[in-house]
This record gives sequence, structure tokens and C-alpha cells, in this order.
Amino acid sequence: MGVHAIVGGQWGDEGKGKVVDFFSDSADVVARYQGGANAGHTVFIDTEQFILHQVPSGILRPDTRCLLGPGMVVDPVELAGEIGRLRDKGFRCMQQIGVAYNAQLVLPVHKRLDGVSEAALKDQAIGTTQRGIGPTYSDRYARRSLPVSALLDADRFKEAVKAHLEYANALLTKIYGQPPLVMADFWDELAATREVVLPLVTDVSTEVIQALREDKSVIAEGAQGVLLDIDFGTYPYVTSSHPGTIGVASGLGIPPAAVTRSTGIFKAYCTRVGEGPFPTELTDHEAGERLRKAGNEYGATTGRPRRCGWFDGVLGDFSARINGFTDICITKADVLSQFREIPMCTGYEDQSTDFLNLHALDEVTPHYASFEGWDDDISGCESMSEFPEALLIYLDALESSLGAPIRIVSTGPERSQIVRK
Ligand code: GDP
Ligand code: IMO
Ligand code: MG
Repeated sequence: MGVHAIVGGQWGDEGKGKVVDFFSDSADVVARYQGGANAGHTVFIDTEQFILHQVPSGILRPDTRCLLGPGMVVDPVELAGEIGRLRDKGFRCMQQIGVAYNAQLVLPVHKRLDGVSEAALKDQAIGTTQRGIGPTYSDRYARRSLPVSALLDADRFKEAVKAHLEYANALLTKIYGQPPLVMADFWDELAATREVVLPLVTDVSTEVIQALREDKSVIAEGAQGVLLDIDFGTYPYVTSSHPGTIGVASGLGIPPAAVTRSTGIFKAYCTRVGEGPFPTELTDHEAGERLRKAGNEYGATTGRPRRCGWFDGVLGDFSARINGFTDICITKADVLSQFREIPMCTGYEDQSTDFLNLHALDEVTPHYASFEGWDDDISGCESMSEFPEALLIYLDALESSLGAPIRIVSTGPERSQIVRK
């Protein structure tokens, strides 16, 4: 059995948390391979909502091992808080969670730097989640960040944090003209997180490879979406990691060929949080507001309203190709109920280059095919045979544009609202 990757096919918030929870039912291991507390993965069980930021969504299943992989940037303060909240609800976090010794730590100063660098960019700001993601990955590549293994020795950890702070304060004061951060501002809280995180430290790569040898079922949980990929997304309006299938092997420390299935998660339309091009966005358009309302499109991490627009088949095709999706899950199909007409972008009129230049997406004009809508409420459907004909036609068009079979359709936020083909 190989690794099953569950990957965001668009700009994030496609419903990965819900789909990971669905597959975790029969999974032995769920491992996050990139990103950090910028993720917000929502799962509804009955009427209770869980929003997971760093802990893999498999935690809601009592026997699933949940790993934070070496490709992640781990914020120990946020993680301790998240674990505390889950433990209060009765989840067995200390038994189930493992944190890679070679993931990198997000320190308080990284979050401060994220905020001030965004402010300095003024109208060029990326609209980050301000969770310290960019500054920590920058430090990782400059080989100056602290890995999780730095927590192992308390004295050396304090020295390393101090030394790092000296460097980071030079940036804060000299580049950004801001007051420095002092150890006293954050040390006690940071030091206290050692107690929570230390017992969880493990070698994720070895654990996953061993699980595969034992023929256990392993899910790789993506965060963000491929259009936010540092290299292949809408740079510079991206995150600092590889959210796609491409990131799984290096983000977990496993051979690329171990990833045998990659399920692309796509909303039946598109959303984006933060800045950057969005060709099919419904700006100042009644339909955009309707999608936001019906889909409850507000960020799970920052609460920001998400920008909404129609499904973009050009970017869908790009995403499916670069990720090598073996199959597709469409989410939020229910949100499109009661739209009389559903446009889908099938091409761009005026691409300035003969390749798809994601850095120039704000220059394209999408053209649309129009699909007939449906009135029926599909949120209670238990099989696709109950779907209205118009939805089946729309799903066929999505499948053709993505070039991979749709195996699952999600019809509501709740755990049980999901239909297999
Ligand atoms: P993720 O980051 O990819 O896990 O997605 P988020 O949790 O940030 O955003 C997805 C939102 O849509 C959450 O509020 C989910 O509860 C909700 N959701 C997921 N699937 C469906 C669906 O099929 N229908 C509806 N109406 N909501 C859904
Ligand atoms: P999940 O896992 C949607 C966006 C931010 C910003 C850009 C860079 O819930 O799908 P960062 O804080 O990563 O440096 O921000 O990426 N972004 C997300 N958008 N869903 C996410 O995660 C996101 N994580 C980051 O809004 O545009
Ligand atoms: Mg999210």
C-alpha cells in the first residue's frame, strides 16, 4: 500500500480537512507535509465544528497516528494551545501525535516579522495569515532557523533562541524601524511549550516508511493549494512551501514513488483569501456575494471574507497536470443549488505568452461556457443517482476539464454529507 495524498487543487480552503477526516476512517497514519498554522481545516461532526491548524485532521479518529512532517514549520506555542483545546474535548493527543525532529520552529519573532514586512509592503502586501510562515521558511533556507530538535536541551534551546533573536532584532530595528522584541516578552510561554512538544518528538520519515512496510494505510494531508505553491503558483502572491503532490516526498522524507494515489480537492467554484490574481473573481457582483453567503466563505484561520468566483478550467487543468491527480473530489456542490446559470471558465482570450504564465494572470480575460443550474437541495443525497441531471452535466464538464475521474462529491459541511461515485 502506498501513500494517499490529499491535495488542495486551487487556492486553499477546498475542504481538505473534511475529506481527510472522511478517509481517516480507515487510515493508520495521517501526516501533514508542509505549511504550518496558516492552515485552517474544518470538520463538522454532527453540529460540532473543529478547526485544525497544525494537528492533522486524522486526530478526530481515535486510532489514527497523526504526524507533523519535516516539511512543516511548527509553531510550538500555537501547537500547545491547539493540543490543549483538543484534549479538553477528550481527544488522545499525546498518544496519537508525533512531531518531526527535523521540522523547523516558528518563533514569536517570526510572527512579528511577518506582520511588519507585510505592513512595509503597503499596497503590494501579500495578505499573509501572519503566522510567521514566510520568515521561518526564509530562515530555514538561510540555515538559521531552529529545528524541533533544538527543544531537546533546555539550556541550549534558550541560547539558540537568544542568538536567533539578536539577528531577527537587527531586521526589526534596522530594516523595519520597529522596536526590538525582548526575551522577557515571550520566553516563559515558549519555554512552557517544551513540556507539551518534547514527548511528541519523533522521526516522521522512519515512522511513515515503517508504516508502509507493514502495509498500513497512510494519508498525506496537504495544506493550502497548488496555486499558492512557492515555485508553481501566482508568485509572489503565494505561500512559502509546496502544497501539491510535489511536496509530499520531501515534506515527509519518503521516496517519491511511495505516493501512489493523489486526490485533488476542488470546490465546485473558486475562492481565494489574500491578494493576488484571480481571473474568474466576481468582484462587485451579486453572484460573488451569493457564493460567499451560501458557502460561508470566511477564512477558517483569519476570519477574512474569501474572494469568490466561478470555476476556472484553465487553472484546474494546470493543477491536475502538475499534481498528477489520480482522482478528484468536488466539494461544496450544494452551494451552487438555486443558481439559474453556472458559468465555467474554459479558456483565456488573450494570453500574452504561449505558455500559461501564472505571474501574469491579472492580464487574462476568461471566457466561459454556461451550464444550467438546478433548484434541488442536494445536501441530503446519499448517492449520485439522486443528483439532478443539471448537476451531473456540470460534474461531467469538471471531470473533462480536470482530466481525472471524480470519485467523491461533498454535499455539505457535515462529516456524513459526502457521496462516493
Ligand atoms: P480546508 O482548508 O481545505 O480544509 O477548507 P476550510 O475548512 O478552510 O474551508 C472549507 C469550508 O467549507 C469549511 O467551512 C467546511 O466546513 C465547509 N465545507 C466543506 N465541504 C463542504 C461542502 O461540501 N458543502 C458546504 N456547504 N460546505 C463545505
Ligand atoms: P488551508 O490549508 C487559503 C494564503 C494567504 C496569503 C498567502 C500567503 O486552510 O487551505 P502565508 O500566511 O502562507 O504566508 O500566506 O497564502 N493562505 C491560504 N489561503 N487557505 C490556506 O490554508 C492558506 N494558507 C495561506 O491568505 O494569500
Ligand atoms: Mg482552510
